Amino acid sequence: PEERPAPVPAGADPDRLRSAAAGCRACGLFRDATQTVFGAGASDAHVVMVGEQPGDVEDREGDPFVGPAGRLLGRAMDDVGLVRSAVYLTNAVKHFKFRRAERGKRRIHQKPDAAELAACRPWLRAELAAIRPGVVVVLGATAASTMLGRAFRVTQQRGRPQPWAELAERSPLVSAASDGEPDPIDADAVVVATVHPSSVLRARDSEERAAAYADFVADLRVVAEL
Ligand code: URA
Repeated sequence: PEERPAPVPAGADPDRLRSAAAGCRACGLFRDATQTVFGAGASDAHVVMVGEQPGDVEDREGDPFVGPAGRLLGRAMDDVGLVRSAVYLTNAVKHFKFRRAERGKRRIHQKPDAAELAACRPWLRAELAAIRPGVVVVLGATAASTMLGRAFRVTQQRGRPQPWAELAERSPLVSAASDGEPDPIDADAVVVATVHPSSVLRARDSEERAAAYADFVADLRVVAEL
């Protein structure tokens, strides 16, 4: 089947957006993925968290952050008192991108490219415009690049609340919009970037992992206090 632009219904709430996104063919990732994994959570959430893309487990189950990285995120949220059901969790890209391991059927995560991020950006824009969060948490470099531009450095700016008004100018979410589309995020909303939870899982040993987890929790504690 051919690719065609993301069928984003104007002014829709997250449930309608989710239904429409089920048939999205805006990039080639729909071909090999099991299903679209749309954002999930409270449609009136104060906090929206944006990850990279669904992983293997999310692709099979259809919900974001239900695999290993999602479990770590959930534990960190519990540690700081962020209630998962009150938050909206979504991703920069809504289909799992993977390659097959040489032997066997293990599916290995691949990073989405710039074209895939751009093709999926209208969905992220529409989710944010529908929810109008007070706080947006950017999880890792992929979410940072699609939301804040390629110059943003998570490692240098993590854990520091920044008003959207100061970030919007460089944001592809704004510059990619068609004429007359309003900014999907309120000027006084606050953005906090941190690492992706899967980076904590990739730490080399238990000591490094404990330190990475503590740093991640410290960033989420900033969010919990906003
Ligand atoms: N990693 C993400 O970025 N998103 C998910 O939904 C799961 C893992």
